[in-house]
Amino acid sequence: MANVQETLIDYLRDAYAMEQQAISIMDRQIERLENYPEMTARLRSHRAETERQAERIETALQRLGTDTSSLKTGMAKLSSNLQAMMNTFAGDEAVKDVISNYTFEHYEIVNYKILKATAETAGEMEIARLAEESLREEEQMASWVEQNIGVITKDFLSRIENPHMQQTAKR
Ligand SMILES: [Fe+2]
Repeated sequence: MANVQETLIDYLRDAYAMEQQAISIMDRQIERLENYPEMTARLRSHRAETERQAERIETALQRLGTDTSSLKTGMAKLSSNLQAMMNTFAGDEAVKDVISNYTFEHYEIVNYKILKATAETAGEMEIARLAEESLREEEQMASWVEQNIGVITKDFLSRIENPHMQQTAKR
């Protein structure tokens, strides 16, 4: 069995790959999303936050005398590109993006909670503090997504045909 320090390094590396994937998901969404300026703006600001989160992980790995050089993030990028493509084909891309983002932010939240607990157990309080900072940002993004589920869905629905609305208009 690996010791706590080695486990912390593994989790930091996983978190780094996760943030690289987050950046590539957001890039695809920003690139393809039209007609949703508020969602695009929020994605841009979270993308900037995500870059700082990746830097925090690099800082943490350096503190432990290692780095991100041997990381394989290629597969993660490939799968997020595929996901974005599938969302485009579905036509209701913005709604599918809401599902992806809600799911991904909660995936990040649980990972940062695990990272924080592992750092505390390893006695690496500075790393625990860095994990906590990123955790707060993920929670804020998750709550923005949550608050906008209905807004974005109705915005999308307002762009497609609605027989119910036509009927009520005729009456
Ligand atoms: Fe995030």
